[in-house]
Amino acid sequence: MKLHIAVLPGDGIGPEVIAQGVKVLKAIGMCFGHIFTFEYGLIGGAAIDKTGTALPEETLDLCKKVDAILFGAIGEPKYNNDTAAKVRPEQGLLGLRKELDLFANIRPVIAYEDLLNHSPLKKKKIKDANIVIYRELSSGIYYGEKKLSDDGNTASDICAYTRFEIERIAHLAFKAAQSRKGKLTLVDKANVLESSKLWRKVLQELAPLYPEVTLAFLFIDNAAMQLILNPRQFDVILTENMFGDILSEEASVIVGSIGLLASASLGPKYAMFEPIHGAYSKATDKGIANPIAAILATAMLLDHFGLYDEAALVRKAIDKSLQLHITTPDLNTKYDNISTSKVGDFIEDYINNPEETNLNFTNIHLGQSTII
Ligand code: IPM
Ligand code: MG
Repeated sequence: MKLHIAVLPGDGIGPEVIAQGVKVLKAIGMCFGHIFTFEYGLIGGAAIDKTGTALPEETLDLCKKVDAILFGAIGEPKYNNDTAAKVRPEQGLLGLRKELDLFANIRPVIAYEDLLNHSPLKKKKIKDANIVIYRELSSGIYYGEKKLSDDGNTASDICAYTRFEIERIAHLAFKAAQSRKGKLTLVDKANVLESSKLWRKVLQELAPLYPEVTLAFLFIDNAAMQLILNPRQFDVILTENMFGDILSEEASVIVGSIGLLASASLGPKYAMFEPIHGAYSKATDKGIANPIAAILATAMLLDHFGLYDEAALVRKAIDKSLQLHITTPDLNTKYDNISTSKVGDFIEDYINNPEETNLNFTNIHLGQSTII
């Protein structure tokens, strides 16, 4: 298969983790005889520094001509406390989601057996947790009318949803539940918000089309608690933009590190794949950023194009790296010298040579004397 991929590394640790993702895709291309080509674009703070805007026209044009987009991270601490800043890095990502109509953000949350000890939550509670969050991504409070009064003392953000916007992601979430354990939970605040009432009504209307799916409703405050109290009760969670942002970051606690969660952002025409974490600027260029989320994003990309064996191999390589403690310091209790690019090297190596790599990698790259 030929795939032309736009690579948008973005800010902070974005470039270093995305470099590992690209490394892995190149290895997959070589092993399976695919032609993957990569074209780079600027976005976020990196784009503001060079062009004055967070989403340059050139980047948008690039994204519109490729088969898929691989995105790194966005954000720059220097903008965070400047509430008057006219341009902000996040505008790049938000603009891209809107311009490309990437309405469905899919965030799988899987508790890895080898990492159960890394979560602050009790092992027996999180074991076998396997959830996928469908977050609406191109509407709601992020994109509603924003106002600041002339005297600067009153501000508002409108949370608006149309039936069309709810229906299109609801169908995807119902279908996902159909192909999984058959449970869909809508998370809303329908006891207070009009927009949430519409979500609930639309879901109730669609439910008869999916008789094998059990539909449940949960208020966001309760859902935030249930998610860490008993994550195994969930299968597919569907929710609006901001609740999805918050819940998915909370869900990373189940997995043990936010550096492990990837997502796909899909629309009618375009598809983007990204880690869910931010730019973590403090860690930039230190080699400590966990590249697994970025690498998992490439597995989601491969799945999207029906390259299931390829995606499975990437996931197997990730599992192996976790098993052998070839991980960055956020997860590592055994070795203290494994960098972002070393993790990428291991996964690349494993893909090239699944039978033997793990026998030798620790010896060659980590200077260990015993064969694992
Ligand atoms: C995410 C991020 C973004 C969001 C930020 C960077 C705008 O937190 O993808 O979860 O809020 O959607
Ligand atoms: Mg977020």
